[in-house]
Amino acid sequence: MSKNSSVFDCTLITFDKNHQIKGNLTAVTNSNQIPFDVKRIYYLYDIPGGLNRGGHAHIELQQLVVALSGSFDITLDDGNAKRTFQLSRPNIGLLIPSALWRELNNFSSGSICMVLASEIYEEKDYLRTYSDFINFKLK
Ligand code: TYD
Repeated sequence: MSKNSSVFDCTLITFDKNHQIKGNLTAVTNSNQIPFDVKRIYYLYDIPGGLNRGGHAHIELQQLVVALSGSFDITLDDGNAKRTFQLSRPNIGLLIPSALWRELNNFSSGSICMVLASEIYEEKDYLRTYSDFINFKLK
């Protein structure tokens, strides 16, 4: 898929909720429930009101994004079409294939954005400008 990915390849995955009187528990299992093995987990938190994150694309990295707390919007862009998803449930993840431009905004107060990633952090996997992204898609 890689560079030919489109925003219509993004999918929302609903994970099981182990619901009990004492609270909920959700598990995410490598390759079984998501199409990659998780090599890294990171999370965004304490995001000041009104600030945006993202503003880049990845060449190879695939990600599953979950709103562990609160809510935020993710807009994906493949150079032709855009799609916006609002995430607000800890048992729903947005699967983002490689090579899509993303912007994250409208973070609610106290929100936590957890990302399960298919690769370790590598700056050379980033396309940091929109023109580099479009050139990559057209190559
Ligand atoms: P970046 O991916 O640009 O964040 P966002 O898209 O949320 O705005 O990363 C922000 C900074 O954090 C950047 O300097 C790289 C660093 N970073 C790491 O050191 N390790 C990581 O796993 C990630 C995702 C970022």
